[in-house]
Amino acid sequence: MSAKPLLRVENVSKTFRVQGKKLHAIENVSFTLEAGKTLGLVGESGSGKSTLGRMVLRLLESDKGKIYFDGADLSKLSKVKLRALRRDMQIIFQDPKASLSPRMTVGDAIEDAMAIHKLGTKASRRERMTELLEKVGLPAEIQYAYPHELSGGQLQRVGIARALSLNPKLIICDEPVSALDVSIQVQVIQLLRDLQKEFNLTYIFISHNLAVVEYLSDDIAVLYLGEVVEQAPAEELFKTPTHPYTQVLLDSILRVPESPEQKQEMVYIQGEVPSPLNPPSGCTFHPRCPYATDICRSAKPLQRTVAECHVAACHRVEETQNLLMVNAN
Ligand SMILES: Nc1ncnc2c1ncn2[C@@H]1O[C@H](COP(=O)(O)OP(=O)(O)OP(=O)(O)O)[C@@H](O)[C@H]1O
Ligand SMILES: [Mg+2]
Repeated sequence: MSAKPLLRVENVSKTFRVQGKKLHAIENVSFTLEAGKTLGLVGESGSGKSTLGRMVLRLLESDKGKIYFDGADLSKLSKVKLRALRRDMQIIFQDPKASLSPRMTVGDAIEDAMAIHKLGTKASRRERMTELLEKVGLPAEIQYAYPHELSGGQLQRVGIARALSLNPKLIICDEPVSALDVSIQVQVIQLLRDLQKEFNLTYIFISHNLAVVEYLSDDIAVLYLGEVVEQAPAEELFKTPTHPYTQVLLDSILRVPESPEQKQEMVYIQGEVPSPLNPPSGCTFHPRCPYATDICRSAKPLQRTVAECHVAACHRVEETQNLLMVNAN
């Protein structure tokens, strides 16, 4: 990668203690992210997406590994630098209402974010708040409304305005459109893209749905039980999905079977996600993988380079790629 990355995550892990057992929520995850780019983080519920996001925000400490933001080691920041970091990195949630006080107008909520960080004067904060409402496509009068008076899409726009008010460098978007109607999802994603261009924002965009991350992401990392099973530039991942898990995720969004025979041929994901408290041996995806063999049951696959900037943790990389070529022909 040419430019110096804004964010560098190196071999981070996080375990929680649950029922007296170790739960590996994130296991040895690495990636880099350049300023102005988007990393899409995809995986089923419980795969560790939010945990990883919270580790980057330093709301959770890593057990192992390092995270560098703007060249600084996050674990070694002084209190003053940590406060500045709280401004530089923002998060947008699936449910923006949960992070807004029901007793505060949305205008006051946006202003309050700036006041907490001692940005500007009361008058300049008010001016900036109205500017931001316009930027996110909301009418100025909405500043006097309370959260319960707004639709889900409007609330998410308020959440975005509030995050933007602090001039962040990085925004973690944790399932920001999952609760919205499809037409509204598209509008919010387009808004995020426009704002990214205008302010050179860097995003980590989290979703369980590959189709949702595709539009915004430069790179995509696919998480399964806390591990990155495949990572590649977005276009490459869609063109040459190599890990069987990515292939089934893609199949489920891309292909509508045209006949019962074709439906039979399509690879469907089998079974439930195993419990992270008792993960399967070897490759943790093997109980659900249509290509699993003995080695998959016994040995953990290492990440292998498939193409430039494209890695997959699968013992059967060559075979899955061959199958892909056969299916394409
Ligand atoms: N504070 C915690 N204590 C114990 N276990 C936790 C804690 N936070 C997360 N976990 C566990 O860590 C794993 C990863 O959780 P996480 O919330 O990061 O998943 P996710 O991919 O964001 O899922 P979702 O799509 O449902 O939001 C899960 O098994 C979850 O139960
Ligand atoms: Mg989550």
